[in-house]
Amino acid sequence: MGAYYQYLVAFAAGVGGLLFGYEIGVIGQVLSMNSFAAYFGYRYKNAAGDYKDCTPDEYFTGCTSYAEDTTGWVTFTFLIGCVGGALIVSMMADALGRKYSILLGGLLFTIGGVLQSVANGLGVFYPGRVVGGIGVGIMSMSVPLYISETSPTAIRGRLTTVYQLMITIGIFIASVINSIIITVVDNASDTEWRLALGVQMIPGAILFVIMFFMPFSPRWLINRDRDSEALAILARLRNLPESDPAVAAEFKDIRDSVHEEREIGQASWPELFAPGIGKRTFLGFFLQFFQQWTGINVILYYQSDLFARMGIDKKAADIPFTLANNFINFVATFPGMYLIERVGRRKLLIWGGIMMGVAHCLVCLFFGLSQQTSALSWLAIVSVYIFLFGFASTWGPIVWTYQSEIFPMRVRAKGTGVATMSNWTWNAVIAKVTPKIIARINFYNYLVFAAACFIMATFTYVFVPETMGKSLEEMDEIFGAPEGAAEKKSKA
Ligand code: BGC
Repeated sequence: MGAYYQYLVAFAAGVGGLLFGYEIGVIGQVLSMNSFAAYFGYRYKNAAGDYKDCTPDEYFTGCTSYAEDTTGWVTFTFLIGCVGGALIVSMMADALGRKYSILLGGLLFTIGGVLQSVANGLGVFYPGRVVGGIGVGIMSMSVPLYISETSPTAIRGRLTTVYQLMITIGIFIASVINSIIITVVDNASDTEWRLALGVQMIPGAILFVIMFFMPFSPRWLINRDRDSEALAILARLRNLPESDPAVAAEFKDIRDSVHEEREIGQASWPELFAPGIGKRTFLGFFLQFFQQWTGINVILYYQSDLFARMGIDKKAADIPFTLANNFINFVATFPGMYLIERVGRRKLLIWGGIMMGVAHCLVCLFFGLSQQTSALSWLAIVSVYIFLFGFASTWGPIVWTYQSEIFPMRVRAKGTGVATMSNWTWNAVIAKVTPKIIARINFYNYLVFAAACFIMATFTYVFVPETMGKSLEEMDEIFGAPEGAAEKKSKA
């Protein structure tokens, strides 16, 4: 199968990212569908035949909830599931293994999709959101980890970015499928939203099936004393015979380091803050914190509304502009994949932060000016696209790569779990507070994100060391050996 096997493994597991992306891409559009809103009672049809949101001031007999309430809960229940999924998997990933964790994530995501698409009320819909969210939370932590542990050092960064590439493909596919559904299916029938949400079961089921055929992570196998299996898988992944000196050397390095770490004993949660590890936990947490404060999901969740407020016709904002936005998000991942093993993680994070900061300032400027001179709205839109390019080629892929490579084996599941929970928690917080901020300061909210982007570029400059070209076993050289390991080494 050649070196392609390596890529096949990364793309197969990457389907987990595609599910994550599909969810991000689909939910905003579903929430704005009249069919969905009327079914769950937060929109009603008035005497003139127009749909209106149910608000405390306009509460009609057809209303069973308020628009802001229900849409908030639909987003929130999913994100809470994601945080829970990341927590669960950080406790279980060592026992269950990366491969089975991904399988479990795919299964839960599919069950969540079934519940959401057949729901006859919020009592079924919300639990469906939580279950689907748990699935995505599990996958978002275990997929990059699995890819990172099966990859060779020289292309580990590139292969891990496959995860982000698949997220962006998922977002794009969701917007294409939704655009077709919105155009073709009767907008008053509940088939519209059921279909949009039901489609996600297909990639969910695909992931579940293909992961059965994917190998276990060699590092995880060695940790379970299944050395001969680990050696065979490593050789297959590297497309070399088991007897090849390069395979033998890599196998020995992994085994020595896994055994050394095992001798120190089971990792506890407080150890995440111990010398040698604390800095990695700090970086994992804050890189994900900053990744969310780029404002990426505010752009993605509310993009059609954003383009409409910039003066674009609602239909155009809903379909072509949203499609273009999601397409740029996908295509711009490629420069990141190319540069990550040439320029490195650190420089890309610094440049990306600066580029996104400048783009946000331009969005604010042209958005403001377009309120007076509508001809300027296209400049505001181009600025949004520049921001997206900056995100998709730097902070989008690199943060997931970085968190999956910095932790030593013993604490890898817990450390990446904390970083992943940080991603989902900030995602939830920002989704909740942004509509309120926008209501108060309108387009000036882009200056808040611009400031965050400049701060994250500075943060990277000061705190984030380069990891390009280092094997997972060599990370101690960069961050310092964990306490127990250092003592052992000095005794040896
Ligand atoms: C982020 C998500 C975001 C996506 C967009 C991911 O790296 O973690 O929050 O929606 O990129 O492509």
